[in-house]
Amino acid sequence: MTGLKIGIIKPDYGVTGGFELHVNALVAGLASRGHSVSLVGVDATVRPPSVYGYPVTPVLREWHDEYFRYLELAERTQQLDLQGFDVVCATQPPTYLANHNRLFALTYHHYRVFYDLADEFVAAGFVDADAHAHATAAVRQIDSDALPRVRSFLAGSDTVAERLRRYWNVGSIGYRHPNVTDLPPASDRDPASSEILCVSRQEWPKRTELFVAAMHLTAAQRSGNRPIGHLVGGGSRANFVASLDAELSAKPNELQRIQGDESGEIWRNMGIFSKGWRPFDGPPSGRIHFHGRVSDEKRNDLYAAAAVVVAPALDEDYGLTVLEAWQQQRPVIVCSDGGGLTELVQHGENGLIAEPTPFAIAQAIDRLCNNPELAASLVAAGTESLASIRWSEALDTFEAVALTTAGRRSDNYADARLSAPHQSPALPAELEAYATGGFYSVEGWLSPASAHSIQRLSEAQMIGGGVAEIGVHHGRLFILLALLCARDEVAVGFDLFERQDENVDGSGRGDREQLDRNLLEAGVPEETVVLVAQNSMDLQPADVLELARGRVRLFSVDGGHTAEITMNDLWIADRVLTHDGVLILDDAFNTMWPGVGEGMHNYLRHPQCELIPFGIVANKTFFTKSEAAADRYRSVLASHPYENHLIREDELLGSPMLCSQFAPGH
Ligand SMILES: C[S@@+](CC[C@H](N)C(=O)[O-])C[C@H]1O[C@@H](n2cnc3c(N)ncnc32)[C@H](O)[C@@H]1O
Repeated sequence: MTGLKIGIIKPDYGVTGGFELHVNALVAGLASRGHSVSLVGVDATVRPPSVYGYPVTPVLREWHDEYFRYLELAERTQQLDLQGFDVVCATQPPTYLANHNRLFALTYHHYRVFYDLADEFVAAGFVDADAHAHATAAVRQIDSDALPRVRSFLAGSDTVAERLRRYWNVGSIGYRHPNVTDLPPASDRDPASSEILCVSRQEWPKRTELFVAAMHLTAAQRSGNRPIGHLVGGGSRANFVASLDAELSAKPNELQRIQGDESGEIWRNMGIFSKGWRPFDGPPSGRIHFHGRVSDEKRNDLYAAAAVVVAPALDEDYGLTVLEAWQQQRPVIVCSDGGGLTELVQHGENGLIAEPTPFAIAQAIDRLCNNPELAASLVAAGTESLASIRWSEALDTFEAVALTTAGRRSDNYADARLSAPHQSPALPAELEAYATGGFYSVEGWLSPASAHSIQRLSEAQMIGGGVAEIGVHHGRLFILLALLCARDEVAVGFDLFERQDENVDGSGRGDREQLDRNLLEAGVPEETVVLVAQNSMDLQPADVLELARGRVRLFSVDGGHTAEITMNDLWIADRVLTHDGVLILDDAFNTMWPGVGEGMHNYLRHPQCELIPFGIVANKTFFTKSEAAADRYRSVLASHPYENHLIREDELLGSPMLCSQFAPGH
C-alpha cells in the first residue's frame, strides 16, 4: 500500500499547547507509517482589517470579538488550496469549512462559546446577550451547512462525542491518545509532602480560582504541615486569581460564603474584566505560590515535589492534566463536571472526583495528604490506566479513517481480524432445534419467515465476524444469532434490561433473567455470549468492536423505536459491519412505529451512511455494504422463499429490493 498525502489543517494561534504537541506526535507517527503528512496552518495571530470584504471597525470587534475571529478563520480556511492532498483532516473549528471532497475531522471541541459554553459566556459578562444569540445562530447555521461534507468525525473523548451528537446530530469514532507532554520519568513521591500542584492556563473556565480558594480551606496535615499550593501557568485571569488569594486572606467571612455552591461566583464572573474592578489591596496569603509560566525544568521540579495534583477545569475536551499526573505518578483530583478530565478517572480507583467547590476540593486534598496508602493505590491504578491508552491504537484509528475517507480500505482498525473466512455454525443440532420450533416458546418479535431468511443470508456470507443486537428483549432473535456463530465468534447483545426508566418509547422490555433462562434452554454456551445493560445512545462503535472482538457480520437493530434512536443505532451498526455483513432493521415499515421509518430514511441520506438496502422480509429490512453482496443476497432471498410468502421486486431510494410478505395461497 502506498502512503497517503494527508493535510492536517489547524488554526495557528502562535502558541504550543497540549493540542499542538498532540498533533506533532500524530504527524510523526503517521510519517513513520509511510504517509506524507503536512500541517496546514490557518493564521490566527494576525487580525485582518476586514472579513469577507467588509471592514471590521474596532467598535464592531469590541462588540463581538469571538464572532469576528470565527469569521476570519472561516474565510482563511475556505481560501486554502488543498487539492494536492489525497485526504484532509480538519481539527479545531472552523477548519471543517475547508474545500476538499475527502475531508474528515479530528474533533476536540466546537467553537465552544457558540455551543456548550454559550450561556456561561454570557453569564460571565463577556458579551451582550442579544448580540451573542444572533452570533450563535449565525455560526451554527454556517457550521451545519458545512457538516454534510465531513465524511467522518473522530472524537477525542466521550465528552466530545456527546457534544457532537447533541449539537450536530452526528456520530463519531472514538480516538484517545496518551500523554504528549515531554516529562521526565516519575520521581519517588515523598509521603510527607504537602505541596499541592495545579498546572493550568489561567483562562476562563479553567477555574484556577477554585484551586486558590480550596488552598485556603485545607486543614493541617498529619505531617504537621499545612498544605501549600503551587499554581503554574499564566493567562488573562492571573491577576484576578492572585488578587482573590489576597482578598480571601483578608476576608474570612467571604471565604465562608463561597466555600460551597456559591463558589461559582468567583470563576463565573469576569473579575478582572468587569468595570471598576481593582486588584485587592492586601498581602498574599502565603498559602499559594503563583509561579506564572515556568521553564520545563521548573515544572518538572514542582511535579517531583508535589504530593497531589489538582485539575479543577470545567468540562474539558480531554484530560491531559490527568495523563500528566499519572505519568508523574502523583494522585490526581478532578471535578465532577470536568468533562474529558473526569471520564478518565474512576473515583477512588485511579484518582478522586470532587464536587466543583473549594470545600470539596480541599477535603479531597486533605484526604490524600493524610492517607498515603490511598494515594499510593491511586497512583498504581493511574499508572495502569495510562499504559492502557496506546499510541499504536490512536494511530490505527486515525489511519483507518484517513484510508477510508481517501477511498482506500483500511487494513487496520479491527479489519485485521476480518481475514477469517465465514465458517459454519458451531452447534448445528441446537440451531436446527431452535430454528424449527424452539423459538416459538421465546416471547418476542421474529416471524418464522424472517428467521428463515436470516439463516439463509448467514450461510451466504463470505467473511467471518461477530454477531450483535441492540434491543434483545427475551432473546427471540438474539438466540438465533448466537446459534449461527461459528467457533470463536461471539454474540454481543445490548439492551436497557433493568434500566427501563430510560426506555422512552416502550418498544418491548428487556428482561435479563428471562433472557438467561431462554439462552440456557436453547443450549447457547455461556462463553459465546456477551450481554451489556446499556442505553444505545451512549454506545460507541469502538465498544462494539472491542466486545465482538472485531467487526460484526450480522447486526440486528431492534432497540428504541424513535427516529433519533434508530438513526443512532444504524450509524453504530454501519461503522462496525463487515464488508458483506447484514444489518437487520426491525419495523422500518410498521404502522405503529413511524419513528423507525423516519430514522432509517434520515440515516440513508446521511453523509456517513455506507449501507445499501437489499430486501424486506416481514418486519425485517436488510442492508449490506457492497453492491456485490447486495446482488448475492437478493438472489438468496429470491431462491429461498418462505412458504405462503409472496415475493415482489421494487426499489428503496434507488436500490433494488427483494420484498416478501405472508400472503395466503402462495
Ligand atoms: C422490540 S424489543 C426487541 C425484540 C427482540 N429483538 C426480539 O427478537 O424479540 C426492544 C428492546 O429494546 C430495548 N431498548 C429500548 N430502548 C433502548 C435503548 N435506548 N438502548 C438499548 N435498548 C433499548 C427494550 O428494553 C426492549 O427489550
